[in-house]
Amino acid sequence: MTVIVDQPEFGIEVDRKSEGLILDGGFAVPIANAFGHEFRDYEAESERQEGVEIFYKNSHINQTYDFVKRMREEYMKLDKVKMSIWECCELLNNVVDESDPDLDEPQIEHLLQTAEAIRKDYPDEDWLHLTALVHDLGKVLLLPEFGELPQWAVVGDTNPVGCAFNESIVHHKYFKENPDYNNPDYNSEFGVYEKGCGLNNVSMSWGHDDYMYLVAKENKSTLPSAGLFIIRYHSFYALHRSGAYKHLMNEEDKENLKWLEIFNKYDLYSKSKVRVDVEKVKPYYLSLIEKYFPTKLKW
Ligand SMILES: [Fe+2]
Ligand SMILES: [Fe+2]
Repeated sequence: MTVIVDQPEFGIEVDRKSEGLILDGGFAVPIANAFGHEFRDYEAESERQEGVEIFYKNSHINQTYDFVKRMREEYMKLDKVKMSIWECCELLNNVVDESDPDLDEPQIEHLLQTAEAIRKDYPDEDWLHLTALVHDLGKVLLLPEFGELPQWAVVGDTNPVGCAFNESIVHHKYFKENPDYNNPDYNSEFGVYEKGCGLNNVSMSWGHDDYMYLVAKENKSTLPSAGLFIIRYHSFYALHRSGAYKHLMNEEDKENLKWLEIFNKYDLYSKSKVRVDVEKVKPYYLSLIEKYFPTKLKW
């Protein structure tokens, strides 16, 4: 079913020449991504397909329990840069995410597209608008002043380390070359964890999600727990798409997961040819930043 969206609000302009929109549970979604393929179609004949597979090979081989531990210790120091959230949004414009088969435009557009789409449907949840704006800011890890980490240590889907890699994870076969795959401490269903221990106690593969969570938490952001959860687990597709690893969740995780599932639709489907007037929406987001974050943050 093809549906044309009505007059857009909040500075969103729909490119009328772009693909039609389909309805997914009442949510208008574009049929195709920026390359004209279905979303998250890793098998599609895309110029990027091969690059994305090589990306996941590197990621799955190198993201070990020990690697994640070292990265967390290093970036927990927050001794790299001091800047505001909005300054970071502008900085992120220099970054292209190689792992993403859908997106081929400056990151600030994606952040604002996601935030504005949510704002339209959930006007009263201002924390959710801001969560959308900041959710990908951790991608600055790719930049020299943040250590210039390789793409596989910054972007792409995330998964727990320290327990078995679930079969639902994209390009799972490459985990066979990860040293943890044959380590009996780390390769059972629970590994180093216990049933219902809570995701807060589970180490995730290192990337922009966990980094931005650390930045928000350590700088004492007043975002609600669901906002911090979305930032931290938005790339955890094995959980929010495939339902894997639920045995590690506690009650609070289950509540927060409901918001993540809502958020994820917007994160995914806003990566299309929808333009946002940055200057028009900027004052609103500056007011939210002031409400939920200190003026200068340590990164
Ligand atoms: Fe992300
Ligand atoms: Fe995103």
